[in-house]
Amino acid sequence: MSGDTITIFDTTLRDGEQSPGCSMTTDEKMEVAKALVELGVDVIEAGFPIASPGDFESVQKIARQFGSQTTICGLARCRVEDIERAAEALKDAENARLHVFLATSAIHREHKLKMSKDDIVERAVEMVKRAVDYIPDVEFSPEDAARTELDFLCEVTEKAIDAGATTVNIPDTVGYSTPSHYFNIITYLKNNVPNIDKAVISTHCHNDLGLAVANSLAAVEAGARQIECTINGLGERAGNASLEEVVMAIRTRRDHYKVDTRINTPKLFSTSRLVSRITGMTVQRNKAIVGRNAFAHEAGIHQHGMLQERSTYEIMRPEDVGYVGTNLVLGKHSGRHAFRDRVKELGFELEEKQLQKVFDEFIALADKKKDVYDSDIVALIDSHTAEASEQFRLDRFHTLAGTDVLPTATLEMRNVSTDEVFRDAATGDGPIDAIFKALERVVGIEAVLEDYQVRSVSTGKDAQGEVMVRITVGENVYHGNGVNTDIVAASAQAYLKALNRALADKS
Ligand code: KIV
Ligand code: ZN
Repeated sequence: MSGDTITIFDTTLRDGEQSPGCSMTTDEKMEVAKALVELGVDVIEAGFPIASPGDFESVQKIARQFGSQTTICGLARCRVEDIERAAEALKDAENARLHVFLATSAIHREHKLKMSKDDIVERAVEMVKRAVDYIPDVEFSPEDAARTELDFLCEVTEKAIDAGATTVNIPDTVGYSTPSHYFNIITYLKNNVPNIDKAVISTHCHNDLGLAVANSLAAVEAGARQIECTINGLGERAGNASLEEVVMAIRTRRDHYKVDTRINTPKLFSTSRLVSRITGMTVQRNKAIVGRNAFAHEAGIHQHGMLQERSTYEIMRPEDVGYVGTNLVLGKHSGRHAFRDRVKELGFELEEKQLQKVFDEFIALADKKKDVYDSDIVALIDSHTAEASEQFRLDRFHTLAGTDVLPTATLEMRNVSTDEVFRDAATGDGPIDAIFKALERVVGIEAVLEDYQVRSVSTGKDAQGEVMVRITVGENVYHGNGVNTDIVAASAQAYLKALNRALADKS
């Protein structure tokens, strides 16, 4: 195997965004796209332009803004209208790719498409040719490839390459494959598709059996040279292969894979945080590479070994993935300059106004609690999201709770655009329930609370609490986050953010 570079194709903004509750606004997609460019991904699949006007607009904006720095891809079914719409959205990108897909497995042919094998080949060829007329960089995906008869898969792949596809992606759409099975599929294609050298073989693995990363890496061993993946493994159902895991496996085990990627790995942690706060999908604590515990050594024997020699128990250095632990940071006398440097070291680039806001909050926090950690700074930065969609602001509140009292919340809020002030009150099962109800009354939205999580940002009884909420309003899911040393305040912030998002969606 040669020392090739693997193309990292990120589909957080398309497959990731498709998963329930992960939809993003155009501004949020722009923020994620910027982070992906800084991370060094080779291809950003920015969306599915025919799906909605919002999808079209975000692909177009991403193509215009970032299409000279990386390749921007748009998805299309094998239909003329899809291809035309995607080509239109991508037309201003210097580097554009059109990704067309058509299912090939017997199950999909018979039950979904009701098309014969010949029909499939004919449609795929016709649509790849049409796509090439618009954009020369065309990727073809035989959907559900991992469950497609191998000979038929070879036939479709060969014809798609003849028609002009420069990348052939082999999706394990339903996460059915296993590493040796997927390795064999790629090997079979390499050995039986005569023109396979004219295209890059790509992987696209779903994680239904928890094997997406292992399958993608097995494909690399068989000769695949593009991996499709997402930040934090977001994606349909159990998600896609996680970008941070495939990249660090390849980097850490270069001795074995003998390939590399162009990923700027110290940006992995901050990109993961960004996607987590924008989508409201929390990262599991022991998640590989970007989980909070990924570099925490608890057992005494491990700590002892680490003190003698880090490599006894550490195969990657935390700084290589930009990991933020519980390092004690600057105190309140450290000044703005040192604060800005630390924020930068942590992998964030804030505009002046944002930096000033976070710095003010840092000073207020340092007044309230004894020790301020890197993770506190990250949480403060994270809480500054969705401000673009802020319509109501919570100025002050008061709650009453305890045994033998009726939990009550009173609050004062402001409509940011009109400056109108609202005062209201509600009772509930507890102070948090009461404040959620009072917020709903003022905003004028009734929501169902689907998920509520609170975690401690660092250690100690005075630690900040970070709250994540997920609500549904009608059919739509919204999320919000908040951080404060008082978890009632953090809960109110989080809930109001989610309500503001719902409100922005309505208008
Ligand atoms: O999982 C899948 O098959 C897909 C295709 C559109 C590539 O997401
Ligand atoms: Zn997929």
